[in-house]
Amino acid sequence: MSCCITSFLYSILLYFAIIPALTLLAIRLTIRKLRGKVDITNEVDISGKTVIVTGASDGIGKVTAEEFAVRGARVILACRNLQKAERAVADIRMRTTNGEMIIMHLNLSSLSSVRQFASEFIQKYGGGLSILVNNAGLVNPVGMRKLTEDGFEEAFGVNHLGHFLLTNLLLPELVKAGEKNPSDPSRVVIVSSGAHSWGSLSLDDLMYEKTPLEDWKWISKLYCNSKLANNLFNLELAKKFRSDKVNVNCYALCPGFVDTNIGKENMADNPPPFWVTHVLFPLLKLVMVKDAKEGAETTVYCSLSKYLTHHSGEMYRNCEFWDYSKRPKLSEKDATKLWEKSEKLVKLN
Ligand SMILES: NC(=O)c1ccc[n+]([C@@H]2O[C@H](COP(=O)([O-])OP(=O)(O)OC[C@H]3O[C@@H](n4cnc5c(N)ncnc54)[C@H](OP(=O)(O)O)[C@@H]3O)[C@@H](O)[C@H]2O)c1
Repeated sequence: MSCCITSFLYSILLYFAIIPALTLLAIRLTIRKLRGKVDITNEVDISGKTVIVTGASDGIGKVTAEEFAVRGARVILACRNLQKAERAVADIRMRTTNGEMIIMHLNLSSLSSVRQFASEFIQKYGGGLSILVNNAGLVNPVGMRKLTEDGFEEAFGVNHLGHFLLTNLLLPELVKAGEKNPSDPSRVVIVSSGAHSWGSLSLDDLMYEKTPLEDWKWISKLYCNSKLANNLFNLELAKKFRSDKVNVNCYALCPGFVDTNIGKENMADNPPPFWVTHVLFPLLKLVMVKDAKEGAETTVYCSLSKYLTHHSGEMYRNCEFWDYSKRPKLSEKDATKLWEKSEKLVKLN
């Protein structure tokens, strides 16, 4: 009798715990392998170089700042919350004493803050900028249209326009660093998202004042649009670098599905059903969601890989080229139009 019970319990354990756990482990290992990795033997030397990471107080940006510091760079952490940035630096300093870490205030939802950041940077550290990582970003709540200080739709204003202005103001510094290192172009790295594929920019209504919001249940169309703008910006920026013959490259990337704080406060306002938060999310997290360190790998790859020295204007994912031609909505005409409209909005011309 006791023998029957034991073998029954073993079968339960086998079918409901061991087999599912091994299957999940196999899927997890396969996905990790497919994701690719930064090849540190293929990195340019950044010791002593100046780099900027926006949104370095948290998530992918914080890890990116750490990766640069470990490699000896002077890292400017461009953050809107200075206390949070100080905590991030203190945490990073527990793991590495390499490099220099400097916090500067930058609020991308305010054009005057962007201008102030750029002029202070040029005044204090203006010997050339080797890498600019446009990483900061927000996901706005579904179905809601918020505005920045300058009256722009928030996701578009922060994720695209703030970075558009910042990059343009820092171009002379990027060019300067590129001139000093002819074999090693300066780089602009734009942290976009695969969500750009669901975006559709209405170029005559960029602030979404007239176009009806067609959000999905848990993802904002405005976020997707802002990420589409990131990719169009990357295309046009590369075109300008080529025509101006400057030694600067740019790349856009999707970090993957990464477990960070982005959008979490929105979930509190609009919580998904119980089975999503308690079954689907934990399972996804276990199997395929990246942690912030893994999420920063493609940013580090685009910032440092020698393989990319002769490439510009492309998109990357999992430390690999991600073919634009296989995705719609990235027309060069739209990229040029968006650039012209953005210039007017941020009053560059
Ligand atoms: N996580 C993902 O699955 C995922 C997927 C695709 C793309 N991405 C992209 O990856 C980038 C980094 O996101 P994350 O996942 O690391 O999120 P996160 O942990 O929330 O970090 C976002 C960073 O951006 C900063 N930020 C937000 N609004 C800002 C503003 N107005 N001015 C200056 N800084 C601002 C935040 O500052 P505070 O610390 O002050 O909030 C924070 O440092 C974003 O561009 C995001 O769109 C993420």
